[in-house]
Amino acid sequence: MTQTLSPEEIRDVNTRYHDVAARHYDSKWGIDFGDIGLQQVSAKVEKALGAKPGRYHRSLEIGSGTGYFTLNLMRAGIIEQATCTDISPGMLGTLADNAQRLGLQVDTLAADAESLPVEDESFDLVLGHAVLHHIPDLATAFSEFARVLRPGGIVLFAGEPSRYGDRIARVPKRFAGAIAPLWRQAIGARPAPPAEGGAADASLEQFVDVHAFAPAELSEFARSAGLQDVKVSGEELLANWFGWTNRTLEATADPRDVPWAWRQYAYRGYVILQQLDRRLLERRLPATVFYNLMITARRPG
Ligand SMILES: C[S@@+](CC[C@H](N)C(=O)[O-])C[C@H]1O[C@@H](n2cnc3c(N)ncnc32)[C@H](O)[C@@H]1O
Repeated sequence: MTQTLSPEEIRDVNTRYHDVAARHYDSKWGIDFGDIGLQQVSAKVEKALGAKPGRYHRSLEIGSGTGYFTLNLMRAGIIEQATCTDISPGMLGTLADNAQRLGLQVDTLAADAESLPVEDESFDLVLGHAVLHHIPDLATAFSEFARVLRPGGIVLFAGEPSRYGDRIARVPKRFAGAIAPLWRQAIGARPAPPAEGGAADASLEQFVDVHAFAPAELSEFARSAGLQDVKVSGEELLANWFGWTNRTLEATADPRDVPWAWRQYAYRGYVILQQLDRRLLERRLPATVFYNLMITARRPG
């Protein structure tokens, strides 16, 4: 599948797919810029760092999408000045709209993570969420992250699929696919109409994800780029099984027919299970069993 695409083709597919996805990305993924989003993102950063985050003067986000991480971290007072990059101009357009609505000032830059058009040693924090698994050459990308960080600066990425977690997430997806017709009948929903953006764009989805990681592999990219104090942790297990079941079901139905009460149940349930994962499982189980991995590292100096 993805092995048949060249790195250039992977970048092109990611750009086209996310340009289309940008229009409905926030509603599809429940991206929140209120209290819930602010708490979710702050908690992820605190978990990844293993300590309460301080204030970062200048940050550079990679694959920032519609702004989930940077805009919420600015609202939390963790980031002061932000530059958001993404390979998809469409995503950056939605991000700029979100920033304007929230009264936040950010710079946006359409750029590939493997070739960042910014000066050496110019940022205190290089961050990203759910982006590393789309990047063809991670060794080059991590060298870029190290280059643009000032000495002592921090790299922080979260929301990267773990190889084992990705494999076990197929179980709820398959289960949900099998019961979807019964579920639609129960809630009175019609089958989903053709995907927004057309069948061609929906068919790109299978090509945009190119990696799932073992924790040690992720650490190795950071170490090979000369970064220190590398720490990889895992998050979300029950929340992901629940989330994937519901998202798979919802994807089969006409969104206009999915009742508000169901959406509330799916969203609130996910948030509750996230807390349960955090309080009960994440401290006790190894990173490798979780669905998502997070990595932090520091540029020496
Ligand atoms: C799954 S989305 C995550 C967006 C956002 N970080 C979030 O958490 O909502 C992945 C993002 O990475 C971007 N992306 C994919 N390949 C990239 C690359 N090679 N360089 C920079 N960004 C890339 C996509 O355009 C998309 O916006």
